[in-house]
This record gives sequence, structure tokens and C-alpha cells, in this order.
Amino acid sequence: MEKVVSGIRPTGNLHLGNYFGAVRSFVAMQDKYQCMFFIADWHSLTTHPKPEDIQQSARTILAEYLACGLDPKKAPIYVQSDVRETIELYLYLNMNMYLGELERVTTFKEKARQQPDNVNAGLLTYPTLMAADILQHRANWVPVGKDQEQNMEMARKCARRFNNIYGVEFFPEPQNFYFSDQAVKIPGLDGSGKMGKSEGNCIYLRDDDKTITKKVMRAVTDNGPQEPNSQRPDVIENLFTFLRIVSTPDTYQYFDEKWNDCTLRYGDLKKQIAADLVAVVAPIREKIEYYSANTELLDQIAREGAEVARESARATLNEVRRIIGFRV
Ligand code: TRP
Repeated sequence: MEKVVSGIRPTGNLHLGNYFGAVRSFVAMQDKYQCMFFIADWHSLTTHPKPEDIQQSARTILAEYLACGLDPKKAPIYVQSDVRETIELYLYLNMNMYLGELERVTTFKEKARQQPDNVNAGLLTYPTLMAADILQHRANWVPVGKDQEQNMEMARKCARRFNNIYGVEFFPEPQNFYFSDQAVKIPGLDGSGKMGKSEGNCIYLRDDDKTITKKVMRAVTDNGPQEPNSQRPDVIENLFTFLRIVSTPDTYQYFDEKWNDCTLRYGDLKKQIAADLVAVVAPIREKIEYYSANTELLDQIAREGAEVARESARATLNEVRRIIGFRV
């Protein structure tokens, strides 16, 4: 079976955009591939987080992914820093990566601009660490967003170069698996195109029913339909996108007809969306609360995941050491 590996940045809480994007595709993939997921806490060191926040951020994101349906029995989930084997591969791969090409990576240039006082070597070799994450399991597929294209190109370069230098066919070149091709893009409810953390317009999976309802009821609208069967402006189409995602087809059709004959009242539409959205989010939130209150269970899941990951990494590393010429 083909292997899938993906890293998750431990940056805060999941919102609906994440849920209907990456998270749901991870959940779907665990039934079709041999998947492994991990929380990229080493990568987060490039911005120097506080020691007391490191474990907490990992637990938070772990609780949320589990609540969304990641099943450690199907796909081990581990914390990157628990699998120290990765670092050895990272070192070997770094020997074959060149300063010039690492400096040309857009995300590096962007980060260097954002944090000019902290342009550290970890930032520069971020793509190598990511390549090590992937290649240590000899993964075939990596579910990523478009923003990771260049990092994935670097991972393939690492694989290719290693194979060429040593004249082996050892690492498969990991391919991008674009979940955005199937995922539903969640619009913002503030009139902006997209729901995102930097847009500050998120509905979080941790939001309680009242907060969700309030956020939906505040959604930007216009003066209402003016002519029968007219095209919907973006802000209204955004509401219908929500309806399509969280409500039944009948409900969608009902409001679509109301729009078309100009009898739609936005208040009713929003109430419907809020109620149906709450029905989706509330059970997930309850699971998040369950896992968050149970750190022992979370740590146990991460420990078991790390064991599987370590075994897989060690097997790869033994071969790599042999190929390079080291004792195994
Ligand atoms: N760079 C990824 C991101 O910013 C996170 C990540 C780290 C990753 N290592 C990975 C993703 C390995 C896929 C595979 O989202």
C-alpha cells in the first residue's frame, strides 16, 4: 500500500477552513493509504517559542485532530521531537543541499523579511528537515497546500540527489497530494474571500454554540434580492456556500428558491446556517473537550505513534548508513 506522511504545524486552534480542508482529507486518507501524521514541533523552533508552551501546543492540536476523526489505530500520530532518528537523516541530507538553492526558497525569503533579527540556520534548512520527515518513511504521497509546493520540490530534490550520488534507487520521490482539489473552500463571513487566521474571521471548532451563532448572525449581507433569478453577489453566495456544506439539499433548495423569487430574508437564512453549523461543530467540540481534559490519553497516543514512527525511521536509517558507508 502506498505511504502517506504529513506534518501539522502546532499553531493554535483549528477553524472551519482547516476542518473542511486539510483535516477532513487526512481523515479520508487514513482508510485508503498507510498514513502517518505528526506534529511538527521542531519546525516551530525557528520562531523561538517559550519552553512552557511547546508541549501544550502539541497536545492542543493533537486533541483537535483526534476529535475530528484521526484514528491512531489506522494512522499513527506522533510528535516530531519524539523521533530523534529524523535528525540523523536531516544531517545527511543537509550535506547534499546547497546554500544558494536554500536561500532561493520563497518561504525562507519571506521569513527572513518577517524576522530580520532571527534569520537562523534552522530557517534556512527548514526544507531539509521537512524532507527528512518525509523520506525517513519513504513516503509516496504528502498531502499539502499550494504554499508547500517549493518545500516539496526540495524534498524530491533531496531524494533524487541522494539516489544519484550513491547510485541507488532508495528514496521514492514523494508526490504532492493536493487536498485543495477536493476540499471545499470556506469563505469568510466578513465579506472577504476566505476564512483564515490572518483574516481574523474564523469560526473555531472550539467555539461554543452561542459564539458560533453570533458569528453567523453578524455575517455581512446586502439589501436583499432586487430582481427574480438574479446572480448572487459574493457575500450572499458565501452564505449559500455554508448552506451547501452544512445543511441538507432540501434546505439549500428552499432558500435558493426564496432568493430567486425575491422573498429571502437573510435573518432566516443565517438562523438556519447557524443551527446546522452548530449541529456539525458541537459534537466535535465535545470530543476536543474530552481529549483536552485527558492529557494522559493524549500522551499515550503520541507515545504509541512515536514507537511506530521510530521503527519505520530506524529501518530507513540503517539502509542510509549502509549506503553512505557507515557502520550499522
Ligand atoms: N511545512 C509544513 C507546513 O508549514 C509542515 C510540515 C513539516 C510538513 N514537515 C512536513 C508537511 C512534512 C508535510 C510533510 O504546513
